[in-house]
Formats: sequence, structure tokens, C-alpha cells
Amino acid sequence: MLDTIAPSLSRLPPVQSDSLLALIALCNADPRPEKIDVGVGVYRDGAGGTPILRSVKAAEQKLWAAQVTKSYLGGRGDIRFAQALRPFVLGRHAGDDRIDEVQTPGGCGALRLGFQLIKLANPDARVLLGIPTWPNHPPMAQGVGLELSNYPYYDRDSTRIRFDEMIAALEAGRPGDVALLHGCCHNPTGADLDAAQWAEVTRVVVSRGLMPFVDLAYQGLAKGLEEDAAGLHGLLDACDEVIVAQSCDKNFGAYRDRVGALFVKTGGRDSTATAMAHVLQMAREMWSMPPDHGGAVVRTVLDDAELAADWHVELGEMRGRINQVRATIAAADPRLAYIAGQYGMFSMLPLTLPQVIALRERHAIYMADSGRFNVVGMADEALDRFIAAVVEALDA
Ligand code: LMR
Repeated sequence: MLDTIAPSLSRLPPVQSDSLLALIALCNADPRPEKIDVGVGVYRDGAGGTPILRSVKAAEQKLWAAQVTKSYLGGRGDIRFAQALRPFVLGRHAGDDRIDEVQTPGGCGALRLGFQLIKLANPDARVLLGIPTWPNHPPMAQGVGLELSNYPYYDRDSTRIRFDEMIAALEAGRPGDVALLHGCCHNPTGADLDAAQWAEVTRVVVSRGLMPFVDLAYQGLAKGLEEDAAGLHGLLDACDEVIVAQSCDKNFGAYRDRVGALFVKTGGRDSTATAMAHVLQMAREMWSMPPDHGGAVVRTVLDDAELAADWHVELGEMRGRINQVRATIAAADPRLAYIAGQYGMFSMLPLTLPQVIALRERHAIYMADSGRFNVVGMADEALDRFIAAVVEALDA
């Protein structure tokens, strides 16, 4: 008989599953009908649902009627989709031919490609990550072999950005290191840099020769499309090299369709073309060609004046609800007042892990272990109950 080698798959170590995905599963398994899911970042309206946007549904109908083939589009996916994002993602830089873009499967696809491009160009680059940041940032950067280095970002107890410490840590960065920044609606804290802070970060990025990598997953859900990209636009004014991971999953409510784009700026048109050729090769190795439907829908909305106008209205409604729920929670207790001054779907509550778990067990309220909660995770009718349970936990 031939000697056999034990299959190596059976020797794989166990995996610490992603905390947010684990939370979704935990909440789904809870049979209590009154459960409140403020875990994952999905917009819910006053009735507690996440309906498909009117503009998206209309674009899907238009697409269904017009689309005659599902043949391949090529590695760039729907070229017009990513181009149509340029006016609002890049603003006054939309005409800059040193910036090119490619469709990706969600913001995650763009992040992964961006990290991989950095690893290829500068294998010794470290990724400077704020503490805290979105839990999927560190494994994505490490997954391509990049080293991480942290910068302090937010103090949960004082509810303030640790700005001086952040700047000091960025000042200690090495040329070529990557400054990973949240464009707006900081995940998980909701604490966004103001204009003066963006200007200071930009100054340090330039003076230290850092590579800014902006994660822009919630544009339009803080103050408005233009305002939410103002920090990015300032970086584009000042820096020859910028990478942007963009997502339409939230601002078009297209979560499961995984709609995103990677934007790359280098110092010249030719170097951008070379960088993009590498990006397309890497995408080819991972997913070959991006899924089409979501990108085609977004493109259909943006290319139709009426649908685009309706999308702006719907985006404004989502933003308005986020900010109105924030104001309601903030008004309920002085310890929650800071929530009105933060942006996007998330804020962090100053709760210990046992308090977070007690909220789950006693009140069927599901938030991340860190105390991060989705301010628009619950229906209007559940808001008072949520606030009362949180205040009770804070008093305990
Ligand atoms: C979140 O942070 O809840 C969202 O970005 C969803 C995800 O993939 O984690």
C-alpha cells in the first residue's frame, strides 16, 4: 500500500469568527419577537425595514426591460458605473486624468485591491490604523502581508477624538506608510474629523510622505454628498498619490449587491495607467470580473436625471432620519448628549462588555461588544425601549 499523507485541511486551526458576522447570527437565532438589532450597519426606516430605494427599484425595472445579454463585460466591469461616481466622489477633481477607477465587489473588494497594490509597490509600507477602526480593516491589510501600526483615534469615555495623539502618531510614520482614514461617518465611533482637523492631517500626510488611503463607505449619510467628501478632496488637492475605496452599498441601499469602486491617483497619467494595469491583473486573480447587477443599477440611476434627482431625495431622507434619531437619543440623557454631534450610522456607548451582554440577555438588544450601535437599527416604536434600557445599563 502507498504511504498516504494525512490531508492538511484537517489540521487547520480554528478561526476566531468576525465579531460582526457572529453578532448577526446570534441575533437571528434569538426567538424573542421584541428583539432590537442595532448590530450590523444596515439602515432601517421608521417601520424597522430596509426597503429597496424607489430610484433603485425603478432603475432595476428599466434595466430588466433594456438588458439583452449577460455576456462578460471585462475586468473593469461596467466602465460607465465607476465613471458616473466621479463627480461626487472626486468633486472638483473629477476631471483629473491622473485618477482612474475600477468597479469592485463592494467597498471590501476595493480595500483589498488597494492594500494589495500598496504591498506590490512598497512591500515595507506599514498601514497606520486608528484605534478603534472597523474590525475588518486589520485582517484585510494583514491578509496581503502588510504590517500594521496603530494611531489613537477616539476616547470612548470622554467621547472625543484623540487628535493630538493621532497627529503625533502620524508624524512618527515613515515615508510610504499608509494612513488609513475614514472619509465620513467614522465606523465604529461616528466621530468625524472637522475641516481644521482634516487640514492638519493633510499637512502631516504631505510632510511625512504618507500615502492616504480613504475608506468612503457612507458618503451622503453625514452632512451631504459634497460635505462628506471634503476631507478627501483636500487630500486630492495636496497629494500626488491617493487611494479611495468607495462603496454604494449604504448610500444606494444596495447592500447585498456589493457595489463599490477603487480610485487610484498617482503623480502622472502614465504611472496611473501602470498602477491600474496591476490592479486589473490582481482583480483577475481574485474575482476575474466584478458582479454586474448593482453597478448597472447605480449607473442607470445616475445617468437618468429624474432617477438621480429622486435618489438625492431618498439619500436626504436617510440622512435626515439618522440625524433626527441621533437628536432624540441625545436629548434623553445628558450622558448621551454627545451622540447628536456625531455622524452616520454608528456611535459607541460607554458600556462594559458585561453591560453589553446584559442588554442582550435581559432586553434582547444586540449591539457590538465594543458598545457600537447602529442609531437607525430599530423601528421608531422601539426607540423609547432602547433608550430606557441603555439608561438603565448606564445607571447600573
Ligand atoms: C458594519 O460595520 O456593520 C458594516 O460595514 C457591515 C460589515 O460588513 O461589517
